[in-house]
Amino acid sequence: MIDKINNVKKQALTELSSLRSTAELRNWQIKYLGRKGELAAVMQLVKASSIEQRPRLGKLANELKVDLENAFTQKNISNNKELDEFFDVTLPGIKPARGHYHPITIVQKELEDLFRSMGFMVLDGPELESEYYNFEALNIPSWHPARDIQDTFYIKEKKPISGNRMLLRTHTSSVQVRALEKYGAPLRAVVPGKVFRYEATDASHDNTFWHLEGLVVAEGITVAHLIGVMNELLKGIFKKEVEIRLRPGYFPFVEPGFELDVKCFICGGKGCSVCKQSGWVELMPCGLVHPNVLKAGGVNPEKFSGFAFGLGLSRLVMMKYQIDDIRLFLSGDLRFLEQF
Ligand code: DAH
Repeated sequence: MIDKINNVKKQALTELSSLRSTAELRNWQIKYLGRKGELAAVMQLVKASSIEQRPRLGKLANELKVDLENAFTQKNISNNKELDEFFDVTLPGIKPARGHYHPITIVQKELEDLFRSMGFMVLDGPELESEYYNFEALNIPSWHPARDIQDTFYIKEKKPISGNRMLLRTHTSSVQVRALEKYGAPLRAVVPGKVFRYEATDASHDNTFWHLEGLVVAEGITVAHLIGVMNELLKGIFKKEVEIRLRPGYFPFVEPGFELDVKCFICGGKGCSVCKQSGWVELMPCGLVHPNVLKAGGVNPEKFSGFAFGLGLSRLVMMKYQIDDIRLFLSGDLRFLEQF
């Protein structure tokens, strides 16, 4: 009986080592471990053996069972590994996925080209800005109620520089005075970039979005120049005539100030969540640069005048591609991003 057990074991393991295909392995499994297999036969014999022999034979039979099962599992694993490692060099390779621009960047680049063609510089400015350039220099002193218009992320500093806290810029207008200081007048510049507001988010508000600031300062600039450039800009963006309206608007850094609205591209003017049911979307506040801003930039307002505008770049991209939720831009959702 002991010999029988040893023989089964020896034979099973020898056979197993020479097997390769899955079908062969399966047959081996049936032959040795199956319900009517060799192991089952051994177990039957153990059962039928005398009471004195049974404990010893039982132990051996159990060892046989464990050994065969382990050997089978091992063989299965190494067999699969061999199959996995098979590499067909004649198969075509996997192409690495190619990235592309974010929708905001696509439109931003188009606008930069458009403005460059009209002789504008494209400027950059810090996103972490001082209160001075974001507010004071733009004719918005600390006591001015206009500061309440923009809910601001202030930076907690260990040692605040007196009267000049740091903040995340609430608009790209913060670059107006920086540009005047650096380049003086005459000047034509646009400043695309991220801006930040501490406010509740919904389909048309996010805490981070994009603006494109425009600034033109020269001798004899009037509202006529402003309207001319705005028309050129909108034609360039929408590639067709767009219905617009101008309303008076108040911003401390322009006088007079306007709001330029376009007919809502999502709903065609019927009213939806993007246009807040009004049929119009505020696209571009603008106006003639306030003399105090020119002064802050070291430019003589007696000699020079200018106009400025603040294009809501995120809104514009939403209209262009009919995107109905501003939060998608920074969602990182590939289902959205892969559409551009
Ligand atoms: N910076 C303003 C805002 O964020 C928008 C703005 C208004 C910009 C009038 C301008 C301007 O350049 O002339 O609300």
